[in-house]
Amino acid sequence: MDQIEEIKAKVDIVNLISESIPLKKAGRNFKANCPFHSEKTASFMVSPEMQIFKCFGCNLGGDAIKFLQLYEKMDFWEAVEFLAKRTGVKLVHRQLTREDVFRNKLYQINSLISEFYHFLLTKHKIGEKAMEYLSSRGIGNQMINEFKLGFAPEGTDAIAGLLKKKGYSTEEIENSGLVLPRGSGYRDRFFGRIIFPLFNHRGLVAGFSGRVIPGLSSSDGPKYINSPETQIYHKSENLYGLWLTKQEIREKKEAIMVEGEFDVISAYQKGLKNTVAIKGTAFTEEQAKLIARFAETAILALDTDSAGSEAIKRSSQIADAVGLDVRVAALPKKFKDLDELARNKPELLEKVFLKTTPVWDFLINLSLKKNDARDPAGKRRILLEILPFLVQIENEVIKNFYFQKLADALGVGLESVLMEAQKAKTAKSVFSGPVLPPRQPTSRRDLLERQFLILIFAARDWQRFKDKSWFGLISDSLLKRIVVFAGKFVKKKKEPEIASFLAVLPAELKKGFEEIYFKSAEAKTDSEGKEIKKVFLEIEKESLKGRLSKLSGSISQMEKQGEKEKIKKLENEFVEIGHRLSVLENE
Ligand code: CTP
Ligand code: MN
Repeated sequence: MDQIEEIKAKVDIVNLISESIPLKKAGRNFKANCPFHSEKTASFMVSPEMQIFKCFGCNLGGDAIKFLQLYEKMDFWEAVEFLAKRTGVKLVHRQLTREDVFRNKLYQINSLISEFYHFLLTKHKIGEKAMEYLSSRGIGNQMINEFKLGFAPEGTDAIAGLLKKKGYSTEEIENSGLVLPRGSGYRDRFFGRIIFPLFNHRGLVAGFSGRVIPGLSSSDGPKYINSPETQIYHKSENLYGLWLTKQEIREKKEAIMVEGEFDVISAYQKGLKNTVAIKGTAFTEEQAKLIARFAETAILALDTDSAGSEAIKRSSQIADAVGLDVRVAALPKKFKDLDELARNKPELLEKVFLKTTPVWDFLINLSLKKNDARDPAGKRRILLEILPFLVQIENEVIKNFYFQKLADALGVGLESVLMEAQKAKTAKSVFSGPVLPPRQPTSRRDLLERQFLILIFAARDWQRFKDKSWFGLISDSLLKRIVVFAGKFVKKKKEPEIASFLAVLPAELKKGFEEIYFKSAEAKTDSEGKEIKKVFLEIEKESLKGRLSKLSGSISQMEKQGEKEKIKKLENEFVEIGHRLSVLENE
């Protein structure tokens, strides 16, 4: 057995979930109010037999690993490791692919080089100037160690040689992003800079950024340079600081988003430990999804200049689309960023985050400040600036609240704002979030077929699948495949039971089947099979009705074409089926 299967078989999902959520017994299932959406009646189910959970309200569901991912915000391997410990299963490392091996090499290289740069900064004479710079910015030794800051000296091209000596291949060295080709050899990418290892949220060094040190001769070029995209560093996915701050973010359910490395480190040093940096660019969708795993609210504490406000606009929609509440913290004007605030007025650090503004209010206020709301041209500009954002708000109640607010601010009726909103909406969406497919509408026939299977499984009536004569009555293609599969299954098994059925059920049928089985575990016992008979009869009737309506369609078709012979045949059939239907209806 695969290790993950072994862990899943050993963990009891009912026990696991009931440690976090009170579960009530409901037939063969357990029930609770769903922890993933708000509701008053319990539609969150846990099945001890299938070892899965499912919410029939919000549709989230899965196994024990998935539960930990959703509820405890663990990532897949964290959840596996957690459960391995709990069940006492020893994790032997899974078969690594060639890419895995290569990526691991790159992580090793980065870890080695981060230690090297850190050594040069903290232990070597060459790092003195850099140390002085850090101390001029108020960064103490403890932060230097926790963030593993380093120094890349100028004038020596040490990295390629060092890595070669440690046995790394040319391909690995080139792909690390740490060196650039020069002539027939390599030069270092980072030189004369303070080095920030960019740890990913799991604590592995994915890449680096380097800042110039004022007064160091050859440290020219842009203020910051970063690792290029590599197999392990993706700028759009990285959030600086998260590896150290995720715990605090999880506890507070709030993440403070800042622009730069120094903002994170300075704030952290002064005790504000739930920040991450987006590193200058606008918040990306990947970053929003990542932070949404840990936080419910993202508080933007970006630079006070106007570039910051642009970033707020773009960030707002992306974060809203992944379900984060976005708020804006106003830093005192005197301070350009959180770093300056933390250094000069640390006593204000906590206060700034006690009073934050929902991002939509922030954007409306900003536009009202810039434009004259009494002037028609001003009203127009305000609408143009604000509506493209407001129309994107996912939640209808919140959206309407802000339309009203905008109407009030402009001194006009809500109706006219709504009409303009309609135009803004069709104009061009600024950001289109993921669309969940709608649940399929079900006909009476579908519902009956489903109910029929639910009752069969409620009674654990496997025998019924031995007789194939009724399979033709199942019209839904998913259900049909399930019954055909069950038919083959009972033929092979002396004592059919659910666990072994689930183990062999084709993956694409699993989801559909799980839903049926959940319902079946709730269904009342139908000891004499009365209910099942009734439902079966209804399906037969529906099927006959379906055939009748098809026949009458064909008959009128033939009438148009004057096909007398065929009409006669069809009419006979119609009468015969009508008769069968009336017999069933009198039963
Ligand atoms: N940045 C970058 N590349 C640049 C400039 C900036 O990656 N060429 C990122 C860095 O992460 C930087 C952040 O954007 O920290 C914010 O940039 P900026 O406001 O210019 O710098 P500060 O954070 O104020 O830098 P410092 O505090 O070091 O002066
Ligand atoms: Mn700064």
